[in-house]
Amino acid sequence: MRSHYCGQVNESLVDQNVDVCGWVHRRRDHGGVIFVDLRDREGLVQIVFDPDSPDTFAQAERVRSEYVLRVTGLVRRRPAGTENANLPSGQVEILCQKLEILNRSEPLPFQVEDEGELNEEIRMRYRYLDLRRPLMQRRMQMRAQSTRVLRRFLDERNFLDIETPILTKSTPEGARDYLVPSRTHPGEFFALPQSPQLFKQLLMMSGMDRYYQIVRCFRDEDLRADRQPEFTQLDIEMSFINEEQIMNLMEDMIRELFAQVLEVALPHPFPRMTHAEAVARFGIDRPDLRIPLELVELKDVMAAVDFKVFSAPAKDPHGRVVALRLPKGGELSRKEIDDYTTYVARYGAKGLAYIKVNDVAQGREGLQSPIVKFLPDDVISAIMQRTRAGNGDLIFFGADKAKVVNESMAALRVKLGHDHGLVERGWRPLWVIDFPMFERDDKDNRWVALHHPFTAPKVDSVDEMNADPGNCISRAYDMVLNGTELGGGSIRIHRPEMQQAVFGLLGIGEEEAKEKFGFLLDALGYGCPPHGGLAFGLDRLVMLMSGAASIRDVMAFPKTQSAACLLTSAPSPVADQHLRELGVRLRKLEGDKPAA
Ligand code: AMO
Ligand code: AMP
Repeated sequence: MRSHYCGQVNESLVDQNVDVCGWVHRRRDHGGVIFVDLRDREGLVQIVFDPDSPDTFAQAERVRSEYVLRVTGLVRRRPAGTENANLPSGQVEILCQKLEILNRSEPLPFQVEDEGELNEEIRMRYRYLDLRRPLMQRRMQMRAQSTRVLRRFLDERNFLDIETPILTKSTPEGARDYLVPSRTHPGEFFALPQSPQLFKQLLMMSGMDRYYQIVRCFRDEDLRADRQPEFTQLDIEMSFINEEQIMNLMEDMIRELFAQVLEVALPHPFPRMTHAEAVARFGIDRPDLRIPLELVELKDVMAAVDFKVFSAPAKDPHGRVVALRLPKGGELSRKEIDDYTTYVARYGAKGLAYIKVNDVAQGREGLQSPIVKFLPDDVISAIMQRTRAGNGDLIFFGADKAKVVNESMAALRVKLGHDHGLVERGWRPLWVIDFPMFERDDKDNRWVALHHPFTAPKVDSVDEMNADPGNCISRAYDMVLNGTELGGGSIRIHRPEMQQAVFGLLGIGEEEAKEKFGFLLDALGYGCPPHGGLAFGLDRLVMLMSGAASIRDVMAFPKTQSAACLLTSAPSPVADQHLRELGVRLRKLEGDKPAA
């Protein structure tokens, strides 16, 4: 039906006849001449309808926004002064010789030409229209281009693209499972995979050597801007490698991706930071290195001060006291400081002490703060030295259990960075390494795996690991970009004794391990190669590359914050008959909603 995409009609086609098809983006009547901007996947082209051809002109008068047209016409240069430098087709226009109206459109619930903020609910309900917007078209194209580059990179290096089951058994990655009742095994359920983790490890045991898959994962967890209940991983696993080799290869791949898609040269190599350093300096294991603010440790100097808010956490082995200096923050009003106090309260902080530095030279007299009166001179000078505070700066303090201080001050650091224009431009990737193997869950008084239970410890022997699980470091690594965890992985356990021991530490008894992971333990016993891998969040990657604010903006058909699809109205009730076949009877839940 067409010879060219609208967006590809340019000066090289002047004086040629073309056929283009697309949607009416805009129609303007100008004193007897009608202009239509016709839009397709590749962009816009201006069509001119001239009253000299009365038939087509009459047809053009009936055309409305989003009608679907086929236009045959002559490409000509636009008259001088009417060119549009913003469009690739902006030097030319098509003089219509023949117009076919292929379809009409009802008036739209919103204008496709709007690039601004639209109501999200309407966008989701009419997602097929939302996707017509040039912005969304560009994002989908960038996503497709990205997977093309990634696939090519891996294909060229002998990775095999292998599919793994969607109807499967629970793969623990720390979220709730989506369950699917089985009709042929009444009372039993499949779980949708939280990741292909166990299958990709089994593939290494099968000798596949190098695997990848662009694969859907399912996690029933609380949703945020960078989390969806179903999302896509670029999942990778390799045999006979160590962490050095896999990190280098993955860096190469991401550098290639950015070079190809964005023409951006990422650093070579990516910097590496231990988990301990990341938490000490930024309070978080995915620091945004574009923000030049850092936490400053004060625990050692606060134990003896006469201010319980600081001294109590300083004496608590699980406590932490830090400062965070905001350069030129002295200009903040009382109200702004109160707002930040409210902000950190979301993360459990009970307050947000501060010192305004008016004049360093005047010592204590030059500081303005409700708390300096509690602090002796040596503590004040330690604060001033360690934060390197200068005149006009503001120093915030966080004091509490380390978890609360880390979470609240990490969030404050990012917020201050954005509020005060301190976020540097560009891309700051890094690897975070040397994660602890286990984290203490104080509520349930047990160890939990920081990555997943299949990650290998740095120590070789079970005894060494068991001697001090809290200080055991894992062979896991995360790739972080501008404060987002892009991907993570590890070298895996490849010996059954170690896998049993890790299950044991995690409180998974022998019976339970056999029932849940018996197939893995068996497989580990039949000649498992050393192996490791990682998985990237593809949606997050494309979100960052495209500058979108949410992963919803780079998924064709995402779900809402409450994990629903407004377009198809899923989830939805099913007929009794269907439930009966599945052996499922519904139970009334409190308020008809499951507890969060
Ligand atoms: P992990 O759980 O860290 O590791 O997931 C890997 C990456 O997937 C992305 N991701 C998500 N993206 C969108 N929505 C979600 N709900 C979501 N959850 C995770 C993140 C994350 O870095 N099997 C291991 C990988 C391995 O060890 O090889 C795994 O799944 O970008
Ligand atoms: P208060 O003694 O509660 O009046 O607090 C004195 C100052 O310390 C106020 O500025 C509080 O915001 C601040 N503050 C209270 N608790 C904490 C905390 N856990 N961490 C940091 N600052 C705090």
